[in-house]
Amino acid sequence: MTCTIGIDLGTSAAKVVVVDERQTVRAAAEAPLATSRPSPLASEQDCHSWWAAVGSALDRIAAEAPAAMAEVVAIGLSGQMHATVLLDAADRPIRPAMLWNDGRAHAEADELKRLGPELAAELGVPALSGFTAPKLLWLARHEPQTLARTRALLLPKDLIRLHLTGEHATDPSDAAGTWLLDEARRTWSARAIAAVGLDPALLPRLVEGSAPSGTVRPEIAARFGLRPGVIVAGGGGDTMVGGVGIGAVEDGRAFVGLSTSAQIFVAANAHRPAPERLVHAFCHAIPGRWCQMAALLNGASVLSAIAHLLGAADIPALLAEVEHQFRAPSRLLVLPYLQGERTPHDDPYARGVVFGLSGDTSRAEVVQAALEGVAFSLADGRDALAAGGVRVDSAGIIGGGARSRFWTRLIASVLDVPLRVYAGAERGPAFGAARLARLALGADDWPAILAEPPITETIAPDPALADAYRPRIDAFRRLYRALRPEFAEAAR
Ligand code: XUL
Repeated sequence: MTCTIGIDLGTSAAKVVVVDERQTVRAAAEAPLATSRPSPLASEQDCHSWWAAVGSALDRIAAEAPAAMAEVVAIGLSGQMHATVLLDAADRPIRPAMLWNDGRAHAEADELKRLGPELAAELGVPALSGFTAPKLLWLARHEPQTLARTRALLLPKDLIRLHLTGEHATDPSDAAGTWLLDEARRTWSARAIAAVGLDPALLPRLVEGSAPSGTVRPEIAARFGLRPGVIVAGGGGDTMVGGVGIGAVEDGRAFVGLSTSAQIFVAANAHRPAPERLVHAFCHAIPGRWCQMAALLNGASVLSAIAHLLGAADIPALLAEVEHQFRAPSRLLVLPYLQGERTPHDDPYARGVVFGLSGDTSRAEVVQAALEGVAFSLADGRDALAAGGVRVDSAGIIGGGARSRFWTRLIASVLDVPLRVYAGAERGPAFGAARLARLALGADDWPAILAEPPITETIAPDPALADAYRPRIDAFRRLYRALRPEFAEAAR
């Protein structure tokens, strides 16, 4: 029996799984990651913390499941997208990475938008402030010394690849998030590179997510008890690799991702841009496939932030309290935009709002409204996709948020779409990365490897609740529209 490793470098944690040929998870470990916010629009991580986290998770598995480690023949990578990972001549990170939810480069994104809809279609979506390209322009203006020292540019998971193999490479799905990739051709875009004034020699080589990108170096193999010659697959951006994990690869297969961020993702067998709706038409993590995605910056992170604010350390207990008092849609409204929003608003200034507090508001009501706020913003994403010509009639649900049956039921009713829940789905992208590793070995049974995992439950929308929520979604939208100018004003 051979095994593959899947590594997902998320935003709040690095997750590692070891999966065997029967797709049974033989071992798993994770290590937390910290984000810093040095100024109101900034969101950064220390690049050194990534390998430290991945290395410690691998060390733990090596100690607890050495037999599984010895059976590993390939490793797949998944990671948070869009960050700036800038390396010097000795491959050392030059500064902390500016993350996917860093809103500082909004003026630069607006400049790139003015280059027109044709370029936006080539790159899959207009330039948005969290993407790599506008952040590079921002660095050129605000930290020219940083760019002057830069000799290589990578994405977060690719820094893990560099540690494992010594190779500079990325894959088309992660490269899509840089706003430097010609999505249809799956190659770097000369026009985008010129627009940013970037030296193309800084960009890594492109390898498909399911193709080998290198082999593990002997000293790394020795540290983790791996055999010699373990292959590292191209891997992909976390959302796409999450899709690989649940077999969302054929045209029209959809899922809701509910981790730190949130998405509605629909697989596509062609590049179908709808840039005016801020739908992200990016490459999928396997060759010959693309996706259309509503990308939301605020997902399960909203629940953790509210729980933290309310001093509730035990989130499952808090959710049980909310479910116990749940009767109908909340009278409160929560705008969940803790760090701005991408689809459909393109608004780095938007922030969270709790609207409608009264003297007798309970904490459970506030939490219910926060869960609803995320569901309403998913409804905005669903409508953006529909306006771009993509209908979602049913979907899977993955990510840490999918662990709550109550929240999933609420989302199914707000979206009016049945949601499939999978066994072990919270491991999504790490599991998908282990599948990409299996494909990189040259396996020919792709349909079996990319099969949909067992469905533990399909959660149907409750028609009465779906009706009750419709006017609340309208109220949610009115509240955001009324406050949009205030958010911009408050950021001055
Ligand atoms: C997708 C996106 C997120 C990040 C963080 O566009 O921004 O999925 O990759 O998880």
